[in-house]
Amino acid sequence: MIRRARIRLTLFYSTIFLLLFWSLSFGIYAWMNSFLGDRSKTFFEITNSQFYQEMPSDIVIDNLRTILLLIDTILLIAIPAITWLLTGNALNPVQKARKREQQFLSDASHELRTPLSILRAEMEVALKKKRSPAEYQKVIQSSKEEVDDLSTLVENLLYLSRENSKHSNPITEQIDLTELVTERIANFQHKARQKKLQLILQPSETNLVIQGNLHLLKRLYTNLLDNAIKYTSEGSITITMKKTKEHAQIAITDTGIGIPEEKQEKIFDRFYRTDESRSEQGYGLGLSIAKQIVQVHHGTVTVESRVGKGTTITLLFPLMH
Ligand SMILES: Nc1ncnc2c1ncn2[C@@H]1O[C@H](COP(=O)(O)OP(=O)(O)OP(=O)(O)O)[C@@H](O)[C@H]1O
Ligand SMILES: [Mg+2]
Repeated sequence: MIRRARIRLTLFYSTIFLLLFWSLSFGIYAWMNSFLGDRSKTFFEITNSQFYQEMPSDIVIDNLRTILLLIDTILLIAIPAITWLLTGNALNPVQKARKREQQFLSDASHELRTPLSILRAEMEVALKKKRSPAEYQKVIQSSKEEVDDLSTLVENLLYLSRENSKHSNPITEQIDLTELVTERIANFQHKARQKKLQLILQPSETNLVIQGNLHLLKRLYTNLLDNAIKYTSEGSITITMKKTKEHAQIAITDTGIGIPEEKQEKIFDRFYRTDESRSEQGYGLGLSIAKQIVQVHHGTVTVESRVGKGTTITLLFPLMH
């Protein structure tokens, strides 16, 4: 498709430029022709030029025609070649974006297939024979968990599909991070209690106001708290919030499985998961989305982690003055 667009653009621009240059040379030729008028006189008699004084004007016209024809023939080859090169350069980013999009679509459909096939298998097994209400309840419960995971995945995919549209997510609201994080933590208390984990918000400074988008920041903290709980089997998750001169600093520390040093850079890539985390459900999208959200808020995200000890994710956002 890109190749076809490139051919079409080359043809279009080449035709325009060639028509332009050809009309120009025809104009020059016609003008000279009428300017010299009487072919029997020499160029000197008409123009008073020293250089052409001996040259009859019809030879001047003939020479001019030959030169113009030569230039036009060179342009006939040069213009399409130059246009081909230029359109190639211009379409390069489009081609790259298209490749990324195709990769994303194939990764996304692959990720969607796994929970769907688990869901189907569970239902098929349940339907094979008559079962007790308790057995049905078990299947429904586990199907619901799959559906919950699927909806998180779909929400994340939806976010990524709109990632480039600044209009749908303007970064213009005044947001008190202390309020937002406290509310998110309250939302995750139930999940933490189910795993017998302590979810602690350290007493922190208030008035950590930044300019941002509430919907995106909620997604950011949801993804980070979800990871902290998911990859911790015992201990606690502690959230600290500080104010530096220019920034709001939020750190989420867990006592979980940790991330090997050589993998710490990759965890922000789309669809990346460490081998250590495979026993937990996930698609490898949460942190790549988190990083994008931090970046649109002009912030930074860093990770510190030790295998078997735990992980700290630190966020820095410029404060509003
Ligand atoms: N707090 C953490 N402790 C240990 N490993 C982590 C932690 N946070 C992230 N990781 C590692 O980084 C990987 C990428 O995280 P990310 O949140 O992007 O994906 P996910 O949790 O696997 O899936 P998703 O968030 O899309 O449901 C995880 O698979 C895990 O290996
Ligand atoms: Mg995650």
